Amino acid sequence: MEKIRDAILSGDVAAVGGLDVPDHYRAVTVHADEVEMFAGLATADKDPRKSLHVEDVATPELGPGEALVAVMASAINYNTVWTSIFEPLDTFAFLRRYGKTSELAKRHDLPYHVVGSDLAGVVLRTGPGVGAWKPGDEVVAHCLSVELEHPDGHNDTMLDPEQRIWGFETNFGGLAELALVKSNQLMPKPAHLTWEEAASPGLVNSTAYRQLVSRNGAGMKQGDTVLIWGASGGLGSYATQFALNGGATPVCVVSSPEKAEICRRMGAELIIDRTAEDYRFWSDENTQNPREWKRFGARIRELTGGDDPDIVFEHPGRETFGASVYVAKRGGTIVTCASTSGFMHQYDNRYLWMHLKSIIGSHFANYREASEANRLIAKGKIHPTLSKVYPLEETGQATYDVHRNAHQGKVGVLCLAPAEGLGVRDEEKRAKHIKAINTFRGV
Ligand SMILES: NC(=O)c1ccc[n+]([C@@H]2O[C@H](COP(=O)([O-])OP(=O)(O)OC[C@H]3O[C@@H](n4cnc5c(N)ncnc54)[C@H](OP(=O)(O)O)[C@@H]3O)[C@@H](O)[C@H]2O)c1
Repeated sequence: MEKIRDAILSGDVAAVGGLDVPDHYRAVTVHADEVEMFAGLATADKDPRKSLHVEDVATPELGPGEALVAVMASAINYNTVWTSIFEPLDTFAFLRRYGKTSELAKRHDLPYHVVGSDLAGVVLRTGPGVGAWKPGDEVVAHCLSVELEHPDGHNDTMLDPEQRIWGFETNFGGLAELALVKSNQLMPKPAHLTWEEAASPGLVNSTAYRQLVSRNGAGMKQGDTVLIWGASGGLGSYATQFALNGGATPVCVVSSPEKAEICRRMGAELIIDRTAEDYRFWSDENTQNPREWKRFGARIRELTGGDDPDIVFEHPGRETFGASVYVAKRGGTIVTCASTSGFMHQYDNRYLWMHLKSIIGSHFANYREASEANRLIAKGKIHPTLSKVYPLEETGQATYDVHRNAHQGKVGVLCLAPAEGLGVRDEEKRAKHIKAINTFRGV
C-alpha cells in the first residue's frame, strides 16, 4: 500500500497499474455480530464511535465491469450514520439479499460491512470488459451500483430493480484505502481540487441535482422560489448553490446564526433561522399545529415579497412535511429524498389537491445526472462544501458529528492521502475559485 501511495504522491500515477494489488487493506467497518449493541437506546444516544471499526480486511476479487480504486479521500454521508446506528434496519440485510442474486454478488455477503459512498482516488486495476477507464486514472465515484439486466432500468437507471447504493447496500465502500466499484460509477476527478475536496460533493451533489434540477425531479427553472430545508447541510448546501446558479431564489432554512452566515457566504439573501424563530409544527407527538404552518408561510412571503415556494426541497421528513405541503405555491412541487426525523409523514391533503400541488419522490441520481453534477464542479460553477477533515482512524468521530448535526456542509476523511491539500493538478483554475472552495472552512 505504501508503494501505491508513494506513486500517487510523486505524481507518477501511470506507474500505479504496474504495482501489486495488496491482499488486504484498512477499512471502516461495522460488524454483523454487533447489530444489537444499541438495542433499547434512543436514536440520539446511539454512538457511531462504538460501532465503527478501522481494521484490516481482505481485498475482494475483481469482477467483470469493475474497478479497484486506491482511495485517497472519502467523505461522511448520512447513510453511514444510519449504517452505524443500525437504523431503520441493519445493512447486513441488504448484503445478504444482494449476495443471493449471483455468484459474483456473493462476495458482498460478509460478517463485516465496509461502508462509505464517496471517494476520490486513482484506478488501480480494471476487470474484464472495462474500456473507458484504465489504471492510473484520477477519479471520483458516484454511488449508484446497478446491474441493468432488466428492461425497467434502461430509460433511467435509478428504476432498475437491482439498483443499490454502493457502500450502503453493497460492500467494499469508500471509507477505506481500497474500494471496489462498477466502472460505470467512475467520473474524472476535478483537476483544481484536492483529494478531500473532490471526494466530498459526490453523493449529495448528485442527489440534490436530480432532486432539484433534473426533469426526473422538480425541474427547477429561472425565477423559481425554492424553499431549502437544512440549507447549510450536505444536500442543502448543493441545493442552495444550484438555485443560485440556475437563476432561482433560494429561501434557506437553518438552525443557527453560524449556519445562516454560511448561506450568506454562498450568496443567499433570504434566510430563516428555525431555532431563533422557534417554529413548533407539532403540538405533541400526534398533533400538528396549522397555526405554525401559517406563521412559517407568512415569514416566507415577508422575505420574498409575497411569493410562495414553487419548489420545496424536502428531506427532514415527519417534523417538517406538513408545513412543506402547506407553504408550497398553488401548483407547486414538494420534492423529497429522505425522512431524517421520521418516515411516517402527515399532512393536510386539502392543501395538496385543492391547490394542485405535487409531491415527487427522488432518490440519488442516474450516471448521467451524477456526471452532469460532477461536470458543474469540474467547471467551477458549483463548489465543494467541505468544512472539516478527519483521518481514517477518526471516522467514528466524524460520523458522530454528522449524527449530532454539529457539522457544516460536508465532513471529509483522509484515506491514503497523508495530509490535506494534495492532488491539485490545475492551480490556475483553483486560484480563480479559491474563495468559493473555502466558503465552509473554519466556520
Ligand atoms: N435518497 C437519497 O438519495 C439521499 C441522498 C442524500 C441524503 N439523503 C438523506 O437526506 C437526509 C439529509 O442528508 P444530508 O447529507 O443533507 O444531512 P446533513 O448534512 O445532516 O444535513 C441535513 C440538514 O437538515 C436539517 N435538519 C435536520 N433535522 C431537521 C429537522 N427535524 N427539521 C428541520 N431541519 C432539519 C439540519 O439543518 P439545520 O439544523 O441547520 O436546520 C441539517 O443540517 C438524511 O436523512 C440522508 O440519509 C438521501
